[in-house]
Amino acid sequence: MLTAEENAQLTRVGPGTLMGELMRQYWIPVVQASELAAGGRPKRVRILGEDLIAYRNPGGRAAVCSEFCAHRRASLYFARNEERGLRCVYHGWQYGPDGGCIDMPNERPESSFQDKVTLPTYPCAERGGVVWTYMGPGSPPPGLPDLEWALVPDAQRFVSKFWQGCNYLQALDSARGARRRRGSTTGASRSTCCRSTRCRRRKSETIRSCTRTCGSRWTTTSW
Ligand code: FES
Repeated sequence: MLTAEENAQLTRVGPGTLMGELMRQYWIPVVQASELAAGGRPKRVRILGEDLIAYRNPGGRAAVCSEFCAHRRASLYFARNEERGLRCVYHGWQYGPDGGCIDMPNERPESSFQDKVTLPTYPCAERGGVVWTYMGPGSPPPGLPDLEWALVPDAQRFVSKFWQGCNYLQALDSARGARRRRGSTTGASRSTCCRSTRCRRRKSETIRSCTRTCGSRWTTTSW
């Protein structure tokens, strides 16, 4: 049984936490590429405990940045997605895709204050129908992972997402449990044709039913 401290150490993923720093070493999926329309409204996303927005500028480039304006922390979820960057609707500061402030309508034209302001922004890339971000310290970031499903043509891939109201460790644990349960109904070991421990018929025999040993009926599609 974990102590409360151990549990917190294993499951917290915000900035500065043990697991958060580990996960920030990797590219992380943010949204499906199809969710971001060029010039469309930003999407709110919460990644590793950080409130961010993802958007695609009118030129088609995807970007991921902090949700809150560097001025008075108004939500950029309501920002205008303009040609050059996101414009905060509160006082009109505008940020380019790299986070630099490129316009401050409430400053004198000769002011250079905008050069000192940056919105926290993370490197972003698209592969396999997914928008990925890298939140780690490495600069430049490492290459995108060469996951096989992300490298095949679009027609050979189905990408979906679903919401789970739990922390990452519970999600991993339930996925493991589900795999184990699937194993127990289609044969504890996928090398035998049925759940019976006496059954020795091999999967490679591509059976339609197991009548030889246990009488269970399993179609080959169960594998
Ligand atoms: S809060 Fe965004 S410009 Fe002032």
